[in-house]
Amino acid sequence: MDAIARCVKSEHVCVTREDSFGTIFGRWQGSEPSLPAVGTGSHTDAIPLSGRFDGVLGVLGGIEAVASLRRVGFKPRRSIDVIMFNSEEPTRFGLSCSGSRAMAGALTAARLQTLKDSLSNHSFVEVVAAAGFGKLDEQALLDAARLSSDSYSAFVELHIEQGPRLEKAGLPIGVVTAIAAPAALTVDFYGDGGHAGALLMHDRHDAGLAAAELALAVEAAALATGVEDTVATAGLVTLQPGAVNSVPRHAHMELDIRDIDGPRRDAVVKKILGAAEEIAKRRGVRMETAFVNSDPPAISSPTVVEAITAAADTLGLAYMRMVSRAYHDTLFVAQVVPSAMVFIPCTGGFSHRPDEFAADADMEHGVSVLALSLAQLSMQ
Ligand code: HGY
Ligand code: MN
Ligand code: MN
Repeated sequence: MDAIARCVKSEHVCVTREDSFGTIFGRWQGSEPSLPAVGTGSHTDAIPLSGRFDGVLGVLGGIEAVASLRRVGFKPRRSIDVIMFNSEEPTRFGLSCSGSRAMAGALTAARLQTLKDSLSNHSFVEVVAAAGFGKLDEQALLDAARLSSDSYSAFVELHIEQGPRLEKAGLPIGVVTAIAAPAALTVDFYGDGGHAGALLMHDRHDAGLAAAELALAVEAAALATGVEDTVATAGLVTLQPGAVNSVPRHAHMELDIRDIDGPRRDAVVKKILGAAEEIAKRRGVRMETAFVNSDPPAISSPTVVEAITAAADTLGLAYMRMVSRAYHDTLFVAQVVPSAMVFIPCTGGFSHRPDEFAADADMEHGVSVLALSLAQLSMQ
């Protein structure tokens, strides 16, 4: 917020606002302010023990792109918004991209009611009220956050690739043509628990071992498609009571399954659920499953892709068109606004790790391509 606020104070460039989901907008007014604006931005929230560039590059890079256009005296026809989306990561409320989902109208009041703040266990509306936004119900929050059809004419997000392809290819820029379809689900196994010393092996119904088997089945289901675009992860497994001398009574799992092909991903999800059922039956444990999200892939707008490739060509920067296997706020913005993304390499392709890193030169290239893309799109 203070980076955007500085932008307000120092150059009176941006007028800032915050929507009912806590997403923050900094607007550089164009010469024709009534036209749909051009948007850029990303997120600054992070998962535990992760890096400093995921998301942040797109927010600070968006501010720098606007500042650099101003420095050279550029005057946009369409206003340009730099957006900091609320809760792109699933960490706080258990659902990814809650801010951009709300903007795209991809979140229902019923679903919002189920979200709990992992810090306070409060509901979303309680967190909003405690933050001083007043007592709005879920539907009012969603109505207030939803974009109208003429809010934006184009959206471009700058992001690190979070994978190794650009670095391996020795290319400075990636132009994202599609974003993979993410799905997440929870699986809970309930066994009898018991004393680790006195309960004999053949009398056990160990929820922890059911989870261990399912984690391997998740890997096997992804590999079985034979396509490298299918990925699946058992990213979170907790055991209760969590004592070394107690047979696990409850295993809670959260699974992440993605593919650039939606139906192929759904077939993998179905296979995993089938494996969970078979494991639960064979091990005599009870099982509960629930979907967290199951989203379609996003296809980039050819017009926005063209603006990015033209910018890279003007700057003499080589690029490759590519699919994003990570999801981003663009996954939802693209449902209502012509969108695309600019990628830069990150060292080793590492991300969601403390050693995530992007070199200054790469960030400079990314911000320059973003600035030129925004300039073109704001004049269209
Ligand atoms: O998980 C993702 O793809 C994103 O980095 N949140
Ligand atoms: Mn992330
Ligand atoms: Mn991100």
